[in-house]
Amino acid sequence: MPHAAEPLRVTPLAAELRKSSLLGAEITLPTGVKCIDLSALSESDKEILRAGLFDNGVVVIRNQQGLDPNVMPTLGKLFDPTAWDIHSGGEKMVTDAKNILSANRGARVPRAQQVSVIGKGKFRGHEGIEELDLKHVSHTEFHETPLSKEEIEQGFTRPYRWHMDAPLYERLPGFVTSLHALQVPKQPDQKIRFANNEALNIPAGATAFYSGARAFNVLTDAEKEFALNTNVRYAPRAYEWILDCKATDDALTIAKVGREKKLEELPEWSWDKVHTFPMVWKNPHNGQPHLQVLGSCVYELHTTNPSTGEVTVMSDLQQVRNTVHKLLKQVYKPENIYFHRWQEGDVVLFHNRGVVHSITGELSAPSGEEDHEKRLLWQCTMASGTEPMGYRI
Ligand SMILES: [Fe+2]
Repeated sequence: MPHAAEPLRVTPLAAELRKSSLLGAEITLPTGVKCIDLSALSESDKEILRAGLFDNGVVVIRNQQGLDPNVMPTLGKLFDPTAWDIHSGGEKMVTDAKNILSANRGARVPRAQQVSVIGKGKFRGHEGIEELDLKHVSHTEFHETPLSKEEIEQGFTRPYRWHMDAPLYERLPGFVTSLHALQVPKQPDQKIRFANNEALNIPAGATAFYSGARAFNVLTDAEKEFALNTNVRYAPRAYEWILDCKATDDALTIAKVGREKKLEELPEWSWDKVHTFPMVWKNPHNGQPHLQVLGSCVYELHTTNPSTGEVTVMSDLQQVRNTVHKLLKQVYKPENIYFHRWQEGDVVLFHNRGVVHSITGELSAPSGEEDHEKRLLWQCTMASGTEPMGYRI
């Protein structure tokens, strides 16, 4: 197929959307290409897309109605040739009630098993699936002190849980997640309150992102040095382990120790499948350091003294969470967070090893018209065959 005259372009989003987040760009496909498809891109287009994603963290391609879901796994392989051809959540959707990843009642697209269907509301016959009853998780189910009914009625919401798409056990996190919006809720903007009591207007159901590069840059020199020398051990079967735990208001970690499952209560597991990753990961394109920690699932911190090589293990869980929270909360400011305002047809790609993201939105607010709350998204994130690259260790 001849390549179109105008190549693929990457345009950073407007400054008022990017703020200090370091995130966000729009991709314009080559002339004549309506829906993204790697076979329609030249080698140079692919390189521009790859660089655009790793430099901007989150990129959006508008008006992708009619996208073939099988394109989403091929996109994943552009950014990670070692990606396995399975969703990082496993070959099948998590439906086990013992795992909080089953809370959204999602399904898989039958013709593309690497692609999950997520969202909110009932759908019949989507992709041949007889019935879907999708649930948009609410922070009220996961936060230690959720917003009051009155605050929710006033339009307030919270991030649900800041995370990378990764089971943190057995299968390695993918480099890239792709999302495609088939239907988006039509609700008024909502609000998030930050530590200084500042309330920020955000789109209802926005996906929120912060850059691990920004999270690293805002640390003090001493904190950077600590982070560069530290590995994070995640809990065995981390999401089952925190099943009964509740998050801090900012959703960066767990508020209190004591509700974790005992290790012997977890489904069968072994230490060789438990993940220990550096705190700071190296961007595979531009070499920048990214602070990549999933604060809700941390278990231990292993810090190496660079002079002696001696390793200190922090295993007191409250201390581990406090230490991680102190680092992560510095990026949690309105100017550092990009909130994606979903439009139908959007394809959003994000650098899963370079950004941290969260669901937001109280889509169950009583609108009286259920259709206004409905949402349908496809999501593809594939397990990688490559360990995250530590910036120093
Ligand atoms: Fe996610």
